[in-house]
Amino acid sequence: MLSIGSGGTVNQTMPERSMECLAPAKVNMTLAVLGKRSDGYHELESWVVMARLFDRLVFTERTGLSLAIRGDSNGVPADESNLAWRAAAALAKAIGRQPAVAITLWKQIPVGGGLGGGSSDAAATLIGLNNLWGSRWPVERLKPIAAGLGSDVPLFLQPGSAIIRGRGEEAERLAEGWRGWLALVVPPYPVSTAEVYRRWSEAPARSGVERRPWRDRTAGSGDLASRLFNDLEPGAFAVEPRLKALHDRLNGLDGRPVRMTGSGSCLFAIFDKEAEAKAWSRLASEQLEDGAQMRVVETM
Ligand code: C5P
Repeated sequence: MLSIGSGGTVNQTMPERSMECLAPAKVNMTLAVLGKRSDGYHELESWVVMARLFDRLVFTERTGLSLAIRGDSNGVPADESNLAWRAAAALAKAIGRQPAVAITLWKQIPVGGGLGGGSSDAAATLIGLNNLWGSRWPVERLKPIAAGLGSDVPLFLQPGSAIIRGRGEEAERLAEGWRGWLALVVPPYPVSTAEVYRRWSEAPARSGVERRPWRDRTAGSGDLASRLFNDLEPGAFAVEPRLKALHDRLNGLDGRPVRMTGSGSCLFAIFDKEAEAKAWSRLASEQLEDGAQMRVVETM
């Protein structure tokens, strides 16, 4: 059985009990950094939407914990440094049982791109194993475990359009999200999240004329695009000058503003229709360096 986030079902028709989950990517439509906190993290207010770009995880009951990576596995560790592994270990400890599961993770979400792939994998692991192991804890009880794994992980326990606050772990669901298409630009280099935040602290940036454009989120993409912003862009561009050069080439191409998601390195433009996103994507492809990729995905 396949499930996105919560509500999955254990497949008992297979010889071994197993569970399959889809872990979606996210894009930060806006990202306001409000200041540095005493715990070293940064206080945020960010509007996020989910994209139909998924990692797929299969959990099969076994003795012991193992992780195998398949697909676009570039640089993804298959050991305890992987957030999915740590999520399995953390849930087993919390419910007081052995972490007995073989995890297979098919990567599709680019790594180190600000698309939340690792965090989404961790949340899908909590949801999947909470089901497979029969603990069936309510999501509220999984949230502290998720927050202990990473700032973005709680958001993916109930994937959907949301405003995230705090260090990112507080998610307020938006009843109606923005529906449209994203042209994602995936540079061939990741950017270090910690380094980008450190740059923001050295030179706090405040972008965007209007800090809460999600109030008009049913507006068409043309209207909305010019009101999106990300306070982490100047820091990321300082950390990775190639990203600044790429943004300079793409921003304004065919009249479309281009933004960065999270702490980078992926960039994106928004569209109402798939055909528009694909046409822009073809234009943008001509501006890419070797190894960079374009993806056109729908929001959900
Ligand atoms: O929570 P997570 O492990 O994803 O954060 C990675 C790093 O990013 C943190 O160690 C911190 O340096 C930085 N960060 C931050 N403020 C946030 C989120 C992350 O400074 N709100």
